[in-house]
Amino acid sequence: MRVTIGILFSVLLMINLSAGTHILRLLSEYSLTTTYGIRTEQLPRFNEYDFIIVGAGPGGSTVANRLSENQNWRILLLEAGEPEGILQQIPSFSSINSKYDWQYKYEPQDKACLGMKDRTCPCPKGKSLGGTTTINGMVYARGHKLDFDIWAQQGNYGWSYEEILPYFRKSERVNLREPVDEPYRGRDGYLHVQNSPWSTPVKTAFLDSGKELGYDVVDYNGRQQIGFSDSQLTMVNGTRCSASKAYLRIRRLNLDIVTEATVSRVLIDDNNHAYGVEFIKNNKTYRINAGKEVILSAGTINTPQLLMLSGIGPKDHLDELGIKVVKDARVGYNLCDHVAFIGLTFLVNQSVEFLANARTPEAALQYAINGTGRHSGTLPSAVAFARTKHAVDARPDIELILRAGAFNMDGDEGRSRGISQEVYDKVWKPIEGQVTWAIWLSPQLARSKGRITLRSTNIADHPIINANLLDDPSDVEVLVEGIKFALNISQSQTFQRYGSRLHDTKIPGCEALEFNSDDYWRCAIRSVTATFNHEMGTAKMGPATDPAAVVDPELRVHGIRGLRVIDASIMPEIPVGHLSATTYMIAEKAADMIKRSWQN
Ligand SMILES: Cc1cc2nc3c(=O)[nH]c(=O)nc-3n(C[C@H](O)[C@H](O)[C@H](O)COP(=O)(O)OP(=O)(O)OC[C@H]3O[C@@H](n4cnc5c(N)ncnc54)[C@H](O)[C@@H]3O)c2cc1C
Ligand SMILES: *[C@@H]1O[C@H](CO)[C@@H](O)[C@H](O)[C@H]1NC(C)=O
Ligand SMILES: *[C@@H]1O[C@H](CO)[C@@H](O)[C@H](O)[C@H]1NC(C)=O
Ligand SMILES: *[C@@H]1O[C@H](CO)[C@@H](O)[C@H](O)[C@H]1NC(C)=O
Ligand SMILES: *[C@@H]1O[C@H](CO)[C@@H](O)[C@H](O)[C@H]1NC(C)=O
Ligand SMILES: *[C@@H]1O[C@H](CO)[C@@H](O)[C@H](O)[C@H]1NC(C)=O
Repeated sequence: MRVTIGILFSVLLMINLSAGTHILRLLSEYSLTTTYGIRTEQLPRFNEYDFIIVGAGPGGSTVANRLSENQNWRILLLEAGEPEGILQQIPSFSSINSKYDWQYKYEPQDKACLGMKDRTCPCPKGKSLGGTTTINGMVYARGHKLDFDIWAQQGNYGWSYEEILPYFRKSERVNLREPVDEPYRGRDGYLHVQNSPWSTPVKTAFLDSGKELGYDVVDYNGRQQIGFSDSQLTMVNGTRCSASKAYLRIRRLNLDIVTEATVSRVLIDDNNHAYGVEFIKNNKTYRINAGKEVILSAGTINTPQLLMLSGIGPKDHLDELGIKVVKDARVGYNLCDHVAFIGLTFLVNQSVEFLANARTPEAALQYAINGTGRHSGTLPSAVAFARTKHAVDARPDIELILRAGAFNMDGDEGRSRGISQEVYDKVWKPIEGQVTWAIWLSPQLARSKGRITLRSTNIADHPIINANLLDDPSDVEVLVEGIKFALNISQSQTFQRYGSRLHDTKIPGCEALEFNSDDYWRCAIRSVTATFNHEMGTAKMGPATDPAAVVDPELRVHGIRGLRVIDASIMPEIPVGHLSATTYMIAEKAADMIKRSWQN
């Protein structure tokens, strides 16, 4: 499929060379500069930089941009992956399982992912300039006010909602259809946030059904998160706006960017001072010094891996592997994610026009020429945040994502999610060719915690990711309530006009249970599990008095000088939302903290 689309676009491109088409504009940017105007170096030009940043996701790209605003500082950004390519710019195109993905997998699960191949759920992670924002679903959703107030209550000074809101606003450049809650939004930042030009009847029906059930259509990044909304996406001009596209298209002579450079270790001296990094490129090992700081922005899986390989981690685990302990710390713990149930499928008595989701030549042509239509959108086309009866405070505890088409209409999607052949053949294969829509749902305040450990001392070996999904039964109970809410959406008058009905083939392994009973859903949830891949928390922020904290409220690694972590791993608790938005905010704030601390 991927190759077909690629060829199709190339052909379209040649046909339309004379017209000022969307795809031509894309390609011209690409071929003129090879990396969308991002200057990269083969190798670092100097032996020492003021700051060395590891990883070019939303954490690293943002910090690289902001620190290089100071012309007196030399910055080096090291990224293991390559620059993104032209296909990554197309919102509908999936780079999962490509060279732009680290292709991690969770360890086989006991309480989740039971209907997946090898009882495991895949854990994609971006390996590219732009990091995971090069392959993600592009939904921009920040978090609830209370999330950050709780961070602050835990002793993280500076992180209350009131204090971090300016950084959310600073990071973004909003250009959205109504409703837009202006005082909360930014217009001058680097990160473009827009709605997809792709509109579908199913999306309209979803928003209408929300109104019918008593929910407003809201700007969920404003005052009120609870409600139904068109997805706000990190995109611009019909293309993906990754972290690198947003923040690294600045040609500053004091910022060197080196790709395909995998950092293998932070260099730390006997006085616990981080003075540089070791990295590998083309099988050669290099060492570069940092005059001021080393900044780890390698993401939730690789940042703890690097910390542990550098001697910062749980003493017993490092001892096991023969790694010299520099600092005993709870690195790799507190792993949390938005676990999800992706097994709900609804049938309608409509033609595929209802979804406007066919990958036809017309759709490709429409995108190639006008930058609109099916290929200008990602499948999470609308979202809803709501409170179930289990909600403990003002925050919504469930998120619903509308999908224009279930797995029967896109087997590739099911395979990339890891659904086993047996489950697919039983549940979705019999309805191939029929028009379906789906709701994916996730408990927003997931309580189950996992852990990351090292498989070996070799940087090339994937760490062991024990996600421990659905370990806490309360996560399952919130999902059961979420399913009832999703069924109410399907049963709304709006969806009944389209003859919407729940696909009622039982999921293998759950056949003994009465369909649509709570116990049936509990079983189904543990079978057709996924996550939104919002892994976070593995280098948790907290004050020195918190024994679980790895970094302090200024993101400095406790007990080490010259080393900070700036990425999704520092989040102490999972926010209600999608994590890239919060990661950009964290990095904007961190850049200011760094500037302040070196002012004197
Ligand atoms: C399939 C999928 C869909 C998602 N959908 C959404 C969504 O719709 N909305 C949303 O907000 N979030 C989404 N996310 C999550 C979001 O993209 C991440 O939370 C976010 O990108 C985390 O940012 P980060 O800076 O912490 O790490 P990353 O973005 O993962 O960046 C880390 C970077 O460091 C590099 N790196 C790692 N190790 C090394 C090393 N040793 N040396 C050099 N470089 C290294 C990596 O290659 C990578 O480029 C999704 C994630 C996935 C996988
Ligand atoms: C989007 O398109 C407009 C009009 O063609 C152009 O001026 C602008 O630079 C584009 N923005 C980005 C970020 O590519
Ligand atoms: C690196 O080494 C491996 C094994 O020794 C080899 O297969 C690979 O081609 C080398 N890569 C480069 C870029 O030289
Ligand atoms: C592109 O947009 C124009 C103006 O809306 C429309 O007339 C035309 O049919 C579109 N082209 C394609 C291929 O969809
Ligand atoms: C679903 O609708 C029924 C009937 O209106 C209502 O009693 C129930 O509370 C709703 N459930 C959820 C989870 O919204
Ligand atoms: C779909 O079903 C609804 C409800 O039964 C009915 O009103 C509608 O006419 C049907 N539409 C089509 C196209 O069959």
